[in-house]
Order: sequence, then C-alpha cells, then structure tokens
Amino acid sequence: MEFSTMFWWFSCFLIIFLFNSLIQSFKSKRNGLPLPPGTMGWPYIGETFQLYSQDPNVFFANKIKRFGSIFKSHILGCPCVMISSPEAAKFVLNKAQLFKPTFPASKERMLGKQAIFFHQGEYHANLRRLVLRTFMPEAIRNMVPNIESIAQDCLKSWDGQLITTFLEMKTFTFNVALLSIFGKDEILYREDLKRCYYILERGYNSMPINIPGTLFHKAMKARKELSQILAQILAKRRTMKTEDNDLLGSFMGKKAGLTDKQIADNIIGVIFAARDTTASVLTWIVKYLGENPSVLQAVTEEQESILKSKEENGEEKGLTWEDTKKMPITSRVIQETLRVASILSFTFREAVQDVEYEGYLIPKGWKVLPLFRNIHHSPENFKEPEKFDPSRFEVAPKPNTFMPFGNGTHACPGNELAKLEMLVLLHHLTTKYRWSMVGAQNGIQYGPFALPQNGLPIILNPKK
Ligand code: HEM
Ligand SMILES: *[C@@H]1O[C@H](CO)[C@@H](O)[C@H](O)[C@H]1NC(C)=O
Repeated sequence: MEFSTMFWWFSCFLIIFLFNSLIQSFKSKRNGLPLPPGTMGWPYIGETFQLYSQDPNVFFANKIKRFGSIFKSHILGCPCVMISSPEAAKFVLNKAQLFKPTFPASKERMLGKQAIFFHQGEYHANLRRLVLRTFMPEAIRNMVPNIESIAQDCLKSWDGQLITTFLEMKTFTFNVALLSIFGKDEILYREDLKRCYYILERGYNSMPINIPGTLFHKAMKARKELSQILAQILAKRRTMKTEDNDLLGSFMGKKAGLTDKQIADNIIGVIFAARDTTASVLTWIVKYLGENPSVLQAVTEEQESILKSKEENGEEKGLTWEDTKKMPITSRVIQETLRVASILSFTFREAVQDVEYEGYLIPKGWKVLPLFRNIHHSPENFKEPEKFDPSRFEVAPKPNTFMPFGNGTHACPGNELAKLEMLVLLHHLTTKYRWSMVGAQNGIQYGPFALPQNGLPIILNPKK
C-alpha cells in the first residue's frame, strides 16, 4: 500500500516532468531552430547574482570563452541573448522592426515616458530629426565660443584645488547641455535645474519604492518640480515669440507638433543622455593622460601649436570650429578612451517577434544585449586590447568593431557635440594646467557608466 502510493506519486511527477521538458524543447525549437548555447541559472533569479557579484565584464568574458559570441542567459527576471560579434551587434541595432528599445518601468517613469529612447516608429523618427538638426556640425559650430567660456570658468574654479574629477566634469557637461537646449538663456535656469537634477539622479539608481522618505520618492518629487520649471520656461518663450535655433526652439516649432509634456520629457532625457556620459569619458581621459606622459606631451604640443599659429597669423584668441578640426592627436586620444573605457558596456533591446539569427532562435519577448565593451576589448578587433594606445586609430578600425555611440536607428545624435566639448576642454586643460592623481587609482565603479574609482580625485595647478 505504502509502496504503491509512493509509486503513484513518483509516476505523476515523472509524467509532469517529461511533459514539461517536452513543452520546453518544443518551445525552444519553434521553427525547428535551437536557442543559442548558454546556461539560464536558477528559476526567476537566473544568473543575476553571478553577473553582479563580480566585475560584469569578467562574467561576459567567461561566457564568451565557454559558449562563443552569441549565448543565452537569464538576468533580472528576463531571459536574454547576449551578443559580442560586431556583425550581430550591427544586425540587432539596425533592424528596428525586429528589436525595440526596452528599459525598466521605474526608469521610464523617472525620465518621462515620452522621452526619445523609449520609442520607435513615427514619433521616434520625428524627435530624432529635431534632435539631429540641433546637434549636427553646421548647428553646433556656432557654439564654440560659449562652450569655451564654460570650459574656462570651470577650469578657473578648479585651480589649485583638490577636486573629484567626475563631479567637476559633470558641472561642465551639464552647463554645455543646458547651453545646447536653452541657448543664451541657459544661465538663468542653471541653479534651479541643477538642484532638481541632482536629486533626480540620486533616485535613478535607487530601489524604485515610492513612499515618503525614499530616494526614489524624492526623485519623483524633483521630477515634478523640473516639469514645473520647464513649464515656466516654455511660457516665457511663448510670450517672446522669437524663433530660437536651440533644442527647445526646435521642439517648440509648429512643425514639430509636440505637446508640453513631450517637450519636458525629452529635455530631461537629453540632459540625462548628455551629462554623465560625456563627464565619464572626460574623467577617463584625465586618468589616461596622467598615466601616459608621452601621450600627454603629444597632445599638449598639438594644442600649443594651435595657439602659436593663431598668434602668428594675427587671429583672434578664442577657439573656432576650424581650430577644433586641427586636433588629430587629441581626437585619437578621445577615440582610444571611448574604446578602452567603453563607458556604456552594453545596451538593451527586446525581440518583438521570433527572430532567426545564424541558425539560432531569439524568441519573442527575450532581451538582446549587444556587448559593446567586449567588442571593443576583443583581440580579434584590436591588438593588445587592454593597452591604451591612441596611435591605433591612425588606421580606421574594421567595420562595426568600434561603436561607442551605438549604431542604427537609436545611435547617439549628440556625438558631434560630445566630441566638440571634450576637445575644447582638453585644449585649455593641457595648455594651461598640470595635474596629479591622488591615491591608488585602479578600480572601476559602475554608476551606471564605467568610472574610475571614487571619481578620480586630482590636484590641479596652473603651469609655471
Ligand atoms: C561621450 C559621450 C556620449 C556617449 C559615449 C554616448 C553614447 C550613446 C549611445 C551608445 C547611445 C545609443 C544607445 C542605444 O542604442 O541603446 C546614445 C543615445 C543617445 N544619446 Fe548619446 N552619448 C554621449 C553623449 C551624448 C550627448 C552630448 C548628447 C546630447 C547632446 C547625447 C544624446 C543622446 C540621445 C538623445 C540618445 C538617444 C537617441 C535615440 O534613442 O534615438 N549623447 N548615446
Ligand atoms: C554604423 O556602422 C557602420 C559600419 O561601421 C558605419 O558606416 C555607420 O556610420 C554607422 N552608423 C551610425 C549611425 O553610427
């Protein structure tokens, strides 16, 4: 009796188990295609702990070694396919009809649901056209003198001080972002916007629990206040009836057809996209230049020769757009920093239908992660990938192996502005100042962009 009940239970389990495996294998062989190789870890938690308990890049590198350039995993409650081959990354980023952008709901709420990153199709294309128009070379060339004065003000305020490079670079990139959005009015709103924005960002990486007292709650309140400030700015502009060619002017144009909420979400979104990214890259540049005296020397000489030739030709002192086009060595330092630091280690997409890629099935609803950092650090794409060597960019990298600004329909529309502001700051930094790093400088922190430990404390002094 005892034995036969046990046997009965055992058979039930066995049948359920077999049936389940059958469904699983049927599911994963839709269209007769296998899933990519890889392990999924525990139910629900998957491999989240393995990913976050170590340097995420070690996790990715071990997977690639074991399973190849396309593998499956399970993180943060989502099954996903991770991709580290240049061609596959390009495929995912360019096939907008197969892969849509995807973010955690809490992040969408904080930045604003109407922000450009979260959309596709007609609405996205319209926004993108407006943003690209403001940030294309012909539009930003006129910003050089204003960017220059922001850079000079920042450097002056750091003079002789012990500073946290990342925090100070954030002030610089924030002010440049406001300039590109609000034009000359920028300075009027700086302090209010800055105060709200700093509260907002502290909540961005916190647990999304919306009860009084939490960082998230404070951030949501700051988000509301930001919208109110922006509403005032919009109202003021409407009474002025001028046609401004900054981003706000472009968003407010009749042809843009955007509501006030859409404008606010996108302004906050652009500040978010523009500030910490560019500030992290600048922080890495300061570190790499500090560690590579011969590279610093070459950059300094290039920048000094620009000053000298302007003097000899009797030109005015300030930098021009043309000057920034005569900085090949400095530009390669920026490229190599973008590669080595790869501040955006990866991005997220979601398959909107079952997709076949190279004989594998990427099931509908799965997340897909192009791993930028692993592409940039593969010895197949870059010789001695861990070495900081700007001269490698004297030869163009192989197609699709270098995508610090992404690729395809959501590629960074601010990349020209980012490069311009970095060149302008580096011009003044290297010609007028010297700096030394304080403390041991080896760790990387992610917040969420890769950053030198502690934001790189340095002491900055004027030359001579
Ligand atoms: C060095 C600094 C920067 C880096 C490394 C960077 C990188 C990126 C990357 C990789 C993407 C694509 C993400 C994806 O496909 O999922 C992106 C998108 C974007 N970036 Fe940047 N970015 C930088 C600076 C800026 C600046 C200065 C601005 C604005 C002026 C900006 C505005 C944007 C916007 C609006 C998007 C979203 C585009 C869309 O969804 O269509 N970025 N950025
Ligand atoms: C995408 O990658 C291709 C090949 O590397 C490149 O030619 C193209 O300019 C890139 N597009 C964008 C928007 O970055």
